Amino acid sequence: MKTRITELLGIEHPIMQGGMMWVGTAEMASAVSNAGGLGVITALTQPTPDALRAEIARCREMTDKPFGVNLTILPSITPPPYAEYRQAIIDEGVKIVETAGFKPQEHVDHFKEHGIVVVHKCTAVRHALSAERMGVDAISIDGFECAGHPGEDDIPGLILIPAAADKVKIPMLASGGFGDGRGLVAALALGADGINMGTRFCATKEAPIHPNVKAKYIENDERGTNLIFRKLHNTARVGKNSVSDKVVEILAQPDSTFKDVQALVSGAQGKIVLETGDVEAGVFWAGMVQGLIHDIPTCKELIDRIMAEAQSIITGRLAGFAA
Ligand SMILES: Cc1cc2nc3c(=O)[nH]c(=O)nc-3n(C[C@H](O)[C@H](O)[C@H](O)COP(=O)(O)O)c2cc1C
Repeated sequence: MKTRITELLGIEHPIMQGGMMWVGTAEMASAVSNAGGLGVITALTQPTPDALRAEIARCREMTDKPFGVNLTILPSITPPPYAEYRQAIIDEGVKIVETAGFKPQEHVDHFKEHGIVVVHKCTAVRHALSAERMGVDAISIDGFECAGHPGEDDIPGLILIPAAADKVKIPMLASGGFGDGRGLVAALALGADGINMGTRFCATKEAPIHPNVKAKYIENDERGTNLIFRKLHNTARVGKNSVSDKVVEILAQPDSTFKDVQALVSGAQGKIVLETGDVEAGVFWAGMVQGLIHDIPTCKELIDRIMAEAQSIITGRLAGFAA
């Protein structure tokens, strides 16, 4: 299947793996890239810019296919040294970067000066348009269904993707809630040039996540998420468990603030969930697409299945309607 995204990124299938904190390692990214998609290393999962350099080198040893690096810019009390991470990405000769988060202009400018293809992930048509004006090469647009930060507008993909496709001129990936061939065909029908997936790639053999957590993605249905931080205007969709239930409960109290939930939502605790498999140890990112996850395939099995299903829908079911 050739689309503007396969052409731009030099990949076989129009499927990207979005940046994923603690999950986007060289193992994950190379598995997706070797399967013909675009795997992505998550810069901030590495403790230092030098560790990121080593991770990029490790990924190169595991694949000779294109892969990218995600740089997520989030508001923080003590921000990581973004410019140093950015320099590491440039120095290591990475060809594709996924940016996400606030005010990416200086990062986009610097990456573009070095001829790097920039895919900017956002959650609103207006943000997609401003990224296009900034000079990025493609947009990845995350609907309300997604794991992570869906923004504050609550627009599901069924509206967000065509609304963006009507206005955005550069290639576009649909993101949030995708996990099978039906989703890929739907995304293409809505005007996207490919899909980006997070949660579905967490439920693969190669994802560096404890088997208990992978089992939880299968056990959870489409209702298995919580939206936290709504009142802080930094909404995040995470897996439903006793900890995220508690965070929702505390933040529903009129006088509550971030301080009241800070210990519950710490990234360190989230890392413990993924490493130890204690699914009640902290919050972990997960999207509504859990309702479509029923097995733990390899990345290659997953991508091959999505492509075969998509081809069969296009040439069978849909072609039948057109006759
Ligand atoms: C475990 C996990 C960690 C994530 N961490 C990040 C991150 O650090 N930066 C980012 O831009 N997006 C992050 N995301 C969002 C994904 O890149 C992607 O946009 C999202 O998962 C798409 O929705 P889906 O889960 O329904 O496929 C994360 C998602 C998951 C599941």
